[in-house]
Amino acid sequence: MAETRTPTVTVTGATGRLGGRVAHRLAERGLAQRLLVRSPERAPRLPGATPVRAEYGDREAVLRGLSGTETVFMVSASESADRLAQHRNFVDAAAEAGVRHLVYVSFYGAAPDATFTLARDHFHTEEHIRASGLAYTFLRDNFYAEFVPDLVGADGVIRGPAERGRTAFVSQDDIADAATTILTRPTDHTGAVYDLTGPESLTLHDAAAVLTEVLGRTVTYEPETVEEAYASRASYDAPQWQLDAWVSTYTAIAAGQLDGVSDAVRTLTGHPATPLADVVRALRG
Ligand SMILES: NC(=O)c1ccc[n+]([C@@H]2O[C@H](COP(=O)([O-])OP(=O)(O)OC[C@H]3O[C@@H](n4cnc5c(N)ncnc54)[C@H](OP(=O)(O)O)[C@@H]3O)[C@@H](O)[C@H]2O)c1
Repeated sequence: MAETRTPTVTVTGATGRLGGRVAHRLAERGLAQRLLVRSPERAPRLPGATPVRAEYGDREAVLRGLSGTETVFMVSASESADRLAQHRNFVDAAAEAGVRHLVYVSFYGAAPDATFTLARDHFHTEEHIRASGLAYTFLRDNFYAEFVPDLVGADGVIRGPAERGRTAFVSQDDIADAATTILTRPTDHTGAVYDLTGPESLTLHDAAAVLTEVLGRTVTYEPETVEEAYASRASYDAPQWQLDAWVSTYTAIAAGQLDGVSDAVRTLTGHPATPLADVVRALRG
């Protein structure tokens, strides 16, 4: 049975993959929640869940949407040139609305000089949250395992300047399980910063071998130089920040900044982190 009192938890990004997974889990636990979404008509219909319309850049809407809520699960916004400004606006509005605790989906190795350019935005968002006075928990997710098949070109080749670097892809289901634990008892996790990774740190050669086995077709990895990486992505006509983000996905791996396995998924969820092969198998249905 869902609780009937005012929800104390608000989940953002519920029309997306990660936020949607978290919203479903909270509903399964019978928790009432608010879903702060850009399009309420696309919000999942869940027992005890009430959609409210807001986007991160709209201060007034965020203030209305978060009023009366204690804990917020904040999925990072879609990639854009002004994502950091949107995040700052959202955090400021959350503090003004009286939110107590923000659980922010950050990125593994978030740092001002991280090779992966978007990890710098995550660092600056974290800093803004720390300065806001809100209680916080940061989930520093490694690259999502669900996206690994999307790295493969139509010719069955993963191309990028990752050299033989390793990354510990993490499943969104594991992240959602960890987030659910935290959102259920947020004060147990005040000030905590969790590195969320998969159970193994893989080169892209290893990842290609996993895809080959699970998908039943040959997938290989061909390292590119940085110059080749920019050239091979030029046809997308993307802005420079987007190209930099795409290419630095790989150079961050080459630099060893996505390497390392943490036990946070197991600690938070009570189950081991899911191997890439199982994630890809589940995607195939
Ligand atoms: N670690 C990684 O490998 C990795 C890879 C890709 C992305 N990411 C980050 O992780 C986030 C979650 O991943 P995902 O797979 O769940 O992405 P997703 O399926 O695209 O979902 C993103 C969610 O955030 C909402 N959203 C985006 N920008 C917003 C804004 N400015 N204001 C309010 N809501 C906004 C979207 O709403 P709409 O439905 O209205 O668009 C959607 O519900 C992404 O948004 C991205 O920042 C991480």
